[in-house]
Order: sequence, then structure tokens, then C-alpha cells
Amino acid sequence: MSKENGNMHETAPVIDCRQVTRTYSEGPEKLTIFSDISLQVAAGETVAIVGSSGAGKTTLLNLLGGLDRPSSGQISICGNDIHRLSEAGRARFRNKHLGFVYQFHHLLPEFPALENVMMPCALGGMAISAAKKKAEGFLTQVGLAERLAHKPGELSGGERQRVAIARAW
Ligand SMILES: Nc1ncnc2c1ncn2[C@@H]1O[C@H](COP(=O)(O)OP(=O)(O)O)[C@@H](O)[C@H]1O
Ligand SMILES: [Mg+2]
Repeated sequence: MSKENGNMHETAPVIDCRQVTRTYSEGPEKLTIFSDISLQVAAGETVAIVGSSGAGKTTLLNLLGGLDRPSSGQISICGNDIHRLSEAGRARFRNKHLGFVYQFHHLLPEFPALENVMMPCALGGMAISAAKKKAEGFLTQVGLAERLAHKPGELSGGERQRVAIARAW
């Protein structure tokens, strides 16, 4: 979007990934999944990472989301070099700035939809009543106002994914 209206060079990219390499060490062998990936994403831009199964999409997304560390290269999110933060610092950064919708929903099975969605806000320090209100609003937006008390096992696959989307907001 920004590229089309010419703003690309005026605002710093939200994601700035420079010469990133990820190598796995399997015993004495080194397996390089990708090397020297550079990628910038501007605010408001929608990007799809496309590739065959095993190409390294999840590996790259885990790096961009601060869930994994690159073997070399730098990744900056909103101007923060996330891999220079401590483990706890990165966890706080993810809680405040990033949302994740996984291929497998990863909802907490013991908790109803409402509490799954409240959890990141509550853990981030928001008052419980405010987190509850926010979560109800998000679940209503994804069409699940009538399913707040359902646990993941009592929801359909698509409904679980919608809860995961509400949680990522
Ligand atoms: N922890 C790991 N150790 C070694 N190899 C891995 C590990 N995780 C993923 N891989 C390998 O990295 C490659 C990319 O995996 P992945 O990023 O999950 O692919 P996809 O593009 O399907 O999401 C695959 O060949 C996979 O076998
Ligand atoms: Mg994958």
C-alpha cells in the first residue's frame, strides 16, 4: 500500500530484516534453511510469505515474531532490535506489540474462549474487568458472542481459529 502512494521512504519500516540466516545444527552437520534474507515491511502493508512445504516459512515467521533467534543478521521491529533483548524483554515486547495466529490454534484447553482471549491483556497488566470487556468485544467482532463460555473442545475448528484471531488483536 505505502509503496503505491510513495510513503515507503518517508516512514521507517515496521519490520526491517537484514541478511538473516538460520542454520540448524544436527550433530556435526549444519543445515542452512535460508541465508541472507532481507525484507522490509511498511506500516499498513499486507504481506504473504509463499513457498512449498519445508521451504522455511514457519522458521522465518518465528524469527520475525521474536520466538527464535537468527544464526546471523539483524531483525528490527518498530525500531527495536528484538534479538538484543533478554528472553524476558522479548516476551514483554511480544505481549505488547505482536499478535500470533498459529496453524494449530494453541488455545488453552482448560479455559473458556473468553478467558483465552483475556489472557494476553491480563498478563500484560490490564485490569481484569477491562481485559474482560475488551475480550468480549473482540469475540463479538469474530461472531462468537454466543460462545464466550465454551472451552476449545466445545468449539468447531473454524470457531477455534476465530478465538485465536481475537486473542491476537
Ligand atoms: N528444530 C529443527 N531442527 C532441524 N531442522 C528443522 C527444525 N525445524 C525445522 N527444520 C527444518 O527446516 C525446514 C523448514 O521448516 P519450516 O520453516 O517449518 O517449513 P515451512 O515452510 O513448511 O513452514 C524443514 O526442512 C524442516 O525439516
Ligand atoms: Mg510451516
